[in-house]
This record gives sequence, structure tokens and C-alpha cells, in this order.
Amino acid sequence: MQRTITSLLASTLLASLALTGCATPESSSQAGATSEGAEETMKQIPAPHDPHSFARPHEVAVDHLSLDLDVDFAAKRLVGRASLTLEHRAAAASLLLDTRDLEIRAVTLDDAPTEVAFTLDEAVPYLGSRLEIPITATTRVVHIDYSTSPQAAAVQWLAPAQTSGGTHPFLFTQSQAILARTWVPCQDTPAVRMTYDATVRVPSELMAVMSADGNPTERNAEGVYRFDMPQPIPSYLLALAVGDLAFAEIGPRTGVYAEGPMLEASANEFADTENMLTEVEALFGPYRWGRYDLLVLPPSFPFGGMENPRLTFATPTIIAGDRSLVALVAHELAHSWSGNLVTNATWNDFWLNEGFTVYLERRIMEAIRGRDYADMLAVLGRQDLEATVADLGSTDADTHLFLDLDGRDPDDGMTDIAYEKGYFFLRSIEEAVGRERFDAFLRNWFDDNAFSSTTTERFLAYLDEALLADDPALAEKVTTASWVYGPGLPDHGTSIEAEAFVRVDDALGTFLDGGPPSELATDGWSTHEWLHFLRGLPDDLGTDRMAALDKAYSLTASGNSEILHAWLHHVIASNYEPGYDRLQTFLEGVGRRKFLKPLYERLASTEEGKAKAREIYARARPGYHTVSSATIDEILDWPPAE
Ligand code: BES
Ligand code: ZN
Repeated sequence: MQRTITSLLASTLLASLALTGCATPESSSQAGATSEGAEETMKQIPAPHDPHSFARPHEVAVDHLSLDLDVDFAAKRLVGRASLTLEHRAAAASLLLDTRDLEIRAVTLDDAPTEVAFTLDEAVPYLGSRLEIPITATTRVVHIDYSTSPQAAAVQWLAPAQTSGGTHPFLFTQSQAILARTWVPCQDTPAVRMTYDATVRVPSELMAVMSADGNPTERNAEGVYRFDMPQPIPSYLLALAVGDLAFAEIGPRTGVYAEGPMLEASANEFADTENMLTEVEALFGPYRWGRYDLLVLPPSFPFGGMENPRLTFATPTIIAGDRSLVALVAHELAHSWSGNLVTNATWNDFWLNEGFTVYLERRIMEAIRGRDYADMLAVLGRQDLEATVADLGSTDADTHLFLDLDGRDPDDGMTDIAYEKGYFFLRSIEEAVGRERFDAFLRNWFDDNAFSSTTTERFLAYLDEALLADDPALAEKVTTASWVYGPGLPDHGTSIEAEAFVRVDDALGTFLDGGPPSELATDGWSTHEWLHFLRGLPDDLGTDRMAALDKAYSLTASGNSEILHAWLHHVIASNYEPGYDRLQTFLEGVGRRKFLKPLYERLASTEEGKAKAREIYARARPGYHTVSSATIDEILDWPPAE
């Protein structure tokens, strides 16, 4: 029988305990912090209950994880031991953990050899099974011997044919939002932070890397790799990848991991990374994680990027050859402040991670490429936001910044709203208070909350205390409540424009008036101008105009994934036959959900298209990560009824 999350966890609702940020030596410097009052006010706000975890961290919190894992490619299993070090906060007779599809072999406490009787509850959809382990007030370490299931949702096991090297298998994890529990038994809530260490054994021809210190630059003959993460992180940032990897340095603190055939192009594409790091430090304070490396994954990686600390995981679809898609690197790097350093305490506060990160991303891009460039990103972002609001409906609760994901898979409510409405909210504050004050405010926010998890309510209290409380005129301008707790798009007050797009709009006008494509003034257009142009085309362009554009600009053959994706939208909308082969190879070769979802949706909007989509999906699905296949299954009602 399936119980509701609410009734299951009702007993923990009364829990209220400050979310602690375990200060590390690197986090304790408070240079420049001038907001003690704001900090005090904020800390009086109780911690909320996380509806997506069975854990009760107000009783016992895991503050260190020690992993010892064998990577078994033949069985598609991680097999080994997780040892959890406990911090007792209140009397508790048991430790409650999150697990999903894990096989628990044995549990022991501290140095005692006897196994303890644990209880593994029946699985609840997407939340998994609560693991209850009896402990006493003196239990320090809980050892769990376990193995993962071949279907573990976080883990993708790739056959050699799905890699660029083609001869060795590959493995990677994706833990955000609540998938860490499918490969590590843990308190899978972003409210809890822990340090970790790991020993990982892999076949000797492969290399292992993690979101930690100690990533190798070369393979070792034993295939044994050790990692250490001295800064406390939430479970969703646990990450592991194993493959035939090589390393290239970019700068003193930055480098890139990729399979051999991708290494040179990757290092070249990401040449700006060290620069970005310097710029963001100048704006928002020191980088507190040691190194910043990137890992370029095989094309099935379901996201553009994932901000795993010290080692961003990235899709190869941003390797465009001209560095035109590296705002994604700025984004994942920015999470080293917004997200990894100051973390959303529950997934309802997701905008604290992503809205802040988009704001930082655009500031970084402005610093390295200039205002015009950042303006283009903002206009494209605004278009995404408007489309998302139109799609969800302008009164829908999922268009609030503060979400209510209780009773749902958090993945279902994580939309562009957190990213773009979050960005425009912060930008509206910046415009009201002025950049200088806003930058100082943000820097203090990161310093004062470093290595802790926080909530929307606390942010609003902090904002109030630090900026708005003694400035009624300003407080009037910054309409926090409607942005955070209201639907749709509050009036931004200023217009969002990009100078470069004026020329694109001219070209669009000429083309839509029937002008020949070859005569459009497209010289010098970057990826972003092309995206604006393609987004400006109507859906009923028709085959002839599509063919003329394609002839002039070879769009079907574009090697730029973003341009190709925008073009393929029109291929489907105009039923442009010569583009279908490319559509098919793209859907079969790339697993990035942001690209797949709109294309499958578009196809599924007609009966004929849906049949074609299912035919393609039948071949493509085995190559997708579960994050993507779960989304596409819904769009195509998969598996189809007999
Ligand atoms: N942290 C996100 C990815 C994510 C979000 C994974 C929610 C699981 C649940 C990452 O930082 C991100 O936002 N990636 C974007 C790229 C970015 C440039 C907007 C992506 O993957 O498209
Ligand atoms: Zn992000």
C-alpha cells in the first residue's frame, strides 16, 4: 500500500533546528562581512521540513561519509561499504536514511562485529525505501555493506559503443535532485552537509574521478583511486565517473578531463575558464574549493552541466569549436558560490541555487565578453521565461519562485522559472539599489552563509535587514512578495534589450517580407544572433522557405548543438523532409534532456509525428540516462499500449 508522504513524515513537521553550516578552516574568514544584524535575524527562522527525505537530521546528522566501492561493469553494480559518522543532536533510538533500489547486506556499529537488525521499508515512488538502523547515544559510526541495482536511477553504465573512444565502457552518476540515494545510503536532503572520503576500485585500464580532492591526472596500474572532500557538501553533490579518461591543464587551478579523442577540443573550448574564475572571485569573494576542473562526458549525459564540486560534469554538446557556448561553464562555476557554498535547504527553495547562479553567470559573461554579449543572454533568457510561463499558465503555482513540491517528484517542478524568474528578480533588486551596493550585499550573503543550507524565508529576512529595512522608498520598489510568492511575471520596470538583436530583427523582417536568404546581413553573427533569428521564425514557414534558408546557411548540417536544436524545431513544424535524417541522428546520438524534451513534444503534437517519435525512441531509449527517459516516457506514453 502506498502511503502519502505527508502522513509518513507528519511526525517530523514539528522539528525545528537551525541548519548548521559546519565551518571549515577555509570558511571561517568573514572578511568584509558587515551584516551581523541581518545574520542574527535570519538565524532565528526555523529550519523547514524537507518533504523529499526520510531523514531526521535534527536528531542525528551524518557529518562524514567514508565510501569503499568496487565498480563491477559486468554486473553493472557498485559494491562495497558506506561508513557514516554521526553527530548526535537530540535523543534518538534510530538513524533514518534514504535509499532507493539498494541491496543492503549488513549493518554494523563502530568496531562491534555483530550485525544489527535494520528495517528497510517498502519502496515509495521516487522517494525509495526508508532505512531504519537502531543506534544508541554513543554510536559514532554506522557501517553499511551494500550494492546498487543495475537500474540505479543515478547511474548510467555505458557500453563502449556509446563512448567516443569506442573501446572501453564508461560510468557516471547524476545525483541531483534526489538520486544520490540510489547509489549511496545517506540523508538525501540538501539541508545536511557532510565531508567525505572514498576508495574506488576500477578495471586497471580505466580511471575514476569524483567531486572531491585527489582526482588523478594519470591512470594507476592497480586501478585503485582515493579521494577526499574536506569541505562539507550536501548529498546531491556526490559524484563519480569512471572511464578511459585523460587530463589536460587549462590554467594553474583549472583543467579538463575527457576521453582521449575529445581532450584537445575540450581544452581549447574551455580556455577561458581560469579567467572566469579570477573574475568571479573579484566580484563575489574567494573560490573556496581548491581546484576547478571540468569533465566532458559522453553525449548521453542528461544535462548541459552539473556543478559537482571541484569537478563540473559537462555535456559534449557545448564543444562548438568557437567557445560560443561557454556561458554554461560560467554557470556551473558560479554554483561554487550559489548552490555549493550557500545551498537551498529544500527543493522548494531551488531558485536560491539556480536564480542566483544565472545572475552570477551573466555577470561573469559580462566581465569576460562585455555588456552586449550578456544582454543577448538575458534577452534569450527572457524569451525562455515567457515561453515557460505561457506553457505552465500565468496563474500556475509552479510559476512562483518559492515552490510547493510536497507530494511530487521534485524533478517535475524544476523549470526555467527558478532560473530566469530568479535572475530577473535579482536583476530588479540590482537596478533598484545600484550595482555597487548589490554586489557588496551578495558578497556578504555568500560570506555569512558559507557552507550552510538556507531558505527563501531566510534570504528575504536577510535582504530586508541588510538593504530594505531603513529605506522605505527602496522597499517600495523591490516588490519581493509578488516575485517570490506570486505567479507569472511581475512587471520588470525596465526593458530587456540587446543591441546586437536589432540587426537580427532587421534581417528577420527582410526575410519574412520575402527577401532571399542569401542576401541577409548575417556576417559576423554569433550563435546567439542565430538563435534569436531562428526563434523569431514562424512555425508555418513552409518547405520552400526552409529549403532556401538551408541552402544559404547549411543549417541542417550545423555542428552547433544549440543552433541545430532551434533549427530542428522548424524541421518538425514545417515538416521539412530533408531535415529528418539529421533529426533522427540527433535524437539517437544526444541524451541532453533540454534538447530532447521539446523535440519529442513537438513531434508528439500530431498523430503521424508521434508514431515517428516512438519509432525513433524505441532505438534511442536504451542509450538515454533515466533522467531523460523518465521525461520522454511521459511525453510518448511509453511503453505504447499493445
Ligand atoms: N544543477 C543544474 C542541473 C540540475 C538541475 C540537475 C536540477 C538536476 C536537477 C545545473 O547547474 C544546470 O542548471 N544546468 C543547465 C545549464 C545551465 C547553463 C542553465 C542545463 O543542464 O541545461
Ligand atoms: Zn544550475
